[in-house]
Amino acid sequence: MAHRVLFLPGDGVGPELLAAAQVVLRATGVRLKVETMDYGRSYERTHGRGLVGLSVPVSEKHLDAIQRLGTVLKGPIEIDPKTPLLELRGRRFTSANQALRKIFQLYANVRPCRFLEGVKGVKSVKAAFPDTNLVVVRENTEGMYTGEERWEGEAGSSAVATRRITREGTLRVARFAFDFAQKHGRKKVTVAHKANVLRLSDTLFLNCCREVSAAYPQIQYTEQLCDSLLTAMVMHPGRWDVILCENLYGDLVSDLAAGLVGGLGLAPSALYGDQGVAIFEPAHGSAPDIAGKGIVNPTSMLLSASMMLDHLGEVEAARRLEAALATIREGETTPDLGGKAGTMQMAEAVAKKLRTNSKI
Ligand code: IPM
Ligand code: MN
Repeated sequence: MAHRVLFLPGDGVGPELLAAAQVVLRATGVRLKVETMDYGRSYERTHGRGLVGLSVPVSEKHLDAIQRLGTVLKGPIEIDPKTPLLELRGRRFTSANQALRKIFQLYANVRPCRFLEGVKGVKSVKAAFPDTNLVVVRENTEGMYTGEERWEGEAGSSAVATRRITREGTLRVARFAFDFAQKHGRKKVTVAHKANVLRLSDTLFLNCCREVSAAYPQIQYTEQLCDSLLTAMVMHPGRWDVILCENLYGDLVSDLAAGLVGGLGLAPSALYGDQGVAIFEPAHGSAPDIAGKGIVNPTSMLLSASMMLDHLGEVEAARRLEAALATIREGETTPDLGGKAGTMQMAEAVAKKLRTNSKI
């Protein structure tokens, strides 16, 4: 039976990435029944703005389709800080992505960073560390990204943003991180924090993580100040396994981690919750500077697609897709990795490996 999946191409390079994913997914032989919807600015452009200047990059129709299909492969969207907030289900959000993460309570954002063999020797990639194989688990519904920001006193003179850490929100993401570690044979969970400064909120975060860690004695538990963690990640990339973070730290730590393996073009992500919805998307933005040129590296989307296959139970196909990507060589890649291939050519090269070598 075919798996039902929703494609949300999004903005900028998003449509090119999903087109590439489609070619490669087809070559895996896994049967998918795909529905596609405009999303982000692309949706707004065709459907117009809402009343009273609110933006409408995502609608009730999207929410229905997401709920109905449950599995989403999605591209990045354009987010301009000047765009008005959007309103959905009586709540206001800073972006369509934030809306989906909050509405479906996608609290665990999983961002693996693993060195790909093919990146070895790529001259344009100054730093790619072969022993990098880590996973950032980022809390994705609270922290600094609550959307609660306001002027205090006179507008323009002082602004306050709320950073919310809850016991319930932390316990659920911590349990997810340890379960994930256990299921994937990982040995260590490191929690990033700044409890030396944020004495209440980060201490609460740490206490919840410690509590959960006690139920997983076979997994090593460590804590590290988030700032020094970034230095240590650059200096000793092979030392890290699962890194558990609140929302803002996770956003930054995962982008740094992508730099260890060759850049954001290689960074996939998956968002999970407990409501039967999972979203798979590149960890990077819509890259308007290269959009439409057919040169965006499809790897972030292809690795996201492989995480989606895992989620659908197509584990063998997921491994074959990753293996095909790992054998990609410099000449077959997009310009960010020193190659001359376009997005589609690189996708075709991966698809060809999948079709011709059933062993990978
Ligand atoms: C990400 C992105 C988003 C975030 C933006 C686009 C809202 O940077 O998924 O990491 O900050 O969470
Ligand atoms: Mn980010």
